[in-house]
Amino acid sequence: VARRHEAADAADDWAALAREVAECRACKLCETRKQAVLGVGDTQASWMLVGEGPGAEEDERGEPFVGQAGKLLDAMLGSVGLTRGKGVYIANSVKCRPPGNRTPTEEEILACRPFLERQIRMVQPHLLIALGRPAAQTLLGQEISISAARGRTHRYGELPVLVTYHPAYLLRTPQDKAKAWEDLCRATDLVAAFDKA
Ligand code: URA
Repeated sequence: VARRHEAADAADDWAALAREVAECRACKLCETRKQAVLGVGDTQASWMLVGEGPGAEEDERGEPFVGQAGKLLDAMLGSVGLTRGKGVYIANSVKCRPPGNRTPTEEEILACRPFLERQIRMVQPHLLIALGRPAAQTLLGQEISISAARGRTHRYGELPVLVTYHPAYLLRTPQDKAKAWEDLCRATDLVAAFDKA
């Protein structure tokens, strides 16, 4: 019974968060997007991935990473035995699509950050992965280039954070896919070490 109550409480928390995100007016992105895109996946996942922000297709469908970049992301996750339904939760730095898919501004990222922080607290992942520079900046709270950030374990509080390429970048620069694969293998090792400890 306690378990059932916990599950019901968690469902309430997610519903409340979704409502608040849909009603949020903290920045101007809400004026131009069709709908807010909260996140998708396993809300008890060990892995949590953070992207930049919804694009046109995500804005249309209300789910992160459903376009071309998302297909590549799914393939990458599949190669290490994960799907967005199990073991992974996917969110973005900003929940509303920036017009024309421009990079979100620092103000927009900061305005939206409390929602991401809540998602991280609710999922309680064992590892965070920042996809691309804006996500790395969001999670690490500092400007950092992908090349400087890759291959090291950063921290968000106690939580380990890895930084890797954004899949949209990898679509344009497929020669860097091997490096992204290395990053995912490191991620697998980190999660395995956590699960053993
Ligand atoms: N790019 C992102 O960063 N996030 C999405 O949800 C889609 C594309």
